[in-house]
Amino acid sequence: MKKISINTNERYDVLIGKNILGELGAYTLEIFAPCKLCIITDDTVNLLYGDSVFDILSNSGFDVYRYSFPTGEASKSLDTYGRCLEFLAENKFSRTDGIIGLGGGVAGDLAGFTASTYLRGIKFIQVPTTLLAAVDSSVGGKTGINLSQGKNLAGTFWQPSLVFCDTATFKTLSAEIFLDGVAEAIKYGIILNKNLFEKIYTDAPITASYDKLEDIVYSCIKLKATLVMEDERDKGVRQLLNLGHTIGHAIEKCSNYKISHGHAVATGIALITKASHNFGYTDLQSLSLIIDILKKHGFITETSFTSEELLPVILSDKKRGGSNINLILPTKIGSSEIREFPVNSLDGFLKAGLK
Ligand SMILES: NC(=O)c1ccc[n+]([C@@H]2O[C@H](COP(=O)([O-])OP(=O)(O)OC[C@H]3O[C@@H](n4cnc5c(N)ncnc54)[C@H](O)[C@@H]3O)[C@@H](O)[C@H]2O)c1
Ligand SMILES: [Zn+2]
Repeated sequence: MKKISINTNERYDVLIGKNILGELGAYTLEIFAPCKLCIITDDTVNLLYGDSVFDILSNSGFDVYRYSFPTGEASKSLDTYGRCLEFLAENKFSRTDGIIGLGGGVAGDLAGFTASTYLRGIKFIQVPTTLLAAVDSSVGGKTGINLSQGKNLAGTFWQPSLVFCDTATFKTLSAEIFLDGVAEAIKYGIILNKNLFEKIYTDAPITASYDKLEDIVYSCIKLKATLVMEDERDKGVRQLLNLGHTIGHAIEKCSNYKISHGHAVATGIALITKASHNFGYTDLQSLSLIIDILKKHGFITETSFTSEELLPVILSDKKRGGSNINLILPTKIGSSEIREFPVNSLDGFLKAGLK
């Protein structure tokens, strides 16, 4: 088992290993004295792992409850959030009781948001079961739900007390959902770490049974940890994690969310890198390697959406402020920069990526 310690306002550990789920009870006892724990999960993950996690925690002396919601992004809503809070209140959860977020990013974000607000905040543990949740959403303390006006419009910064990641759970993921996480892992390699990029590149395509998966997850979380510790509130270097996301989000939205997050981000990475190369910020060899690694995993590196379709979505992004926009540009493999562009230059930049 590998361990990463995160030193934010509150210190916590991330544990990563294959077939470690059975040890969750012992590690949970290091965070909570026997108390009530509520597993928040979706119906799919509940069927696959809900009973095991329930039994493991019960056998360690916890009084375990479970709230399972319909699978899918549509559940990351005010409605489900309200139900989670009321489920805790009905079952008389107190300030010393806790929550276990079991599943992908949807379960993790809901569990975290619920934990951060119930009784003004209780402790929670993240048990990510998608690669995307493992390398991205479970670490860093961003929680949230969607409103009808847009994604992640309500949320908090609330760090988990433990992140417990059993990479064996990824074996039940569909190839498509696994790949969503691969896009994020490739992103870490591009922005921060040439070795990680090269490892994925050499062994591509990586799958859920890839024998170095634990190493990949470890490297990604370690990189995220560095950024989060330096910039917990996402005002500086943490923005590097947005590589491919500005265009990626626009593609997701323009496709009416038929294109999933990781696949849209992969295309976003390809387009921003092409634009960045055309403007002289990224060299040709790095561009070719980035396009190659994406293609090796079957990602689409072009889009049929036009800049007229993408631009309005980009400009309505909640993270944008004033007349400038920050874009993340890969300078070469393993290094990247945050560059500010005037909004009125964005159309030309985007068109350079779509060429
Ligand atoms: N808080 C953050 O920092 C952060 C960062 C990135 C993404 N996110 C959020 O994460 C969400 C996306 O995460 P996601 O892709 O994990 O989505 P998800 O939670 O919907 O999971 C994707 C699908 O995989 C299924 N699943 C989960 N684990 C499984 C397993 N082991 N075997 C089989 N099926 C399994 C789920 O039931 C679901 O159908 C978005 O809502 C996004 O906004 C949050
Ligand atoms: Zn992402």
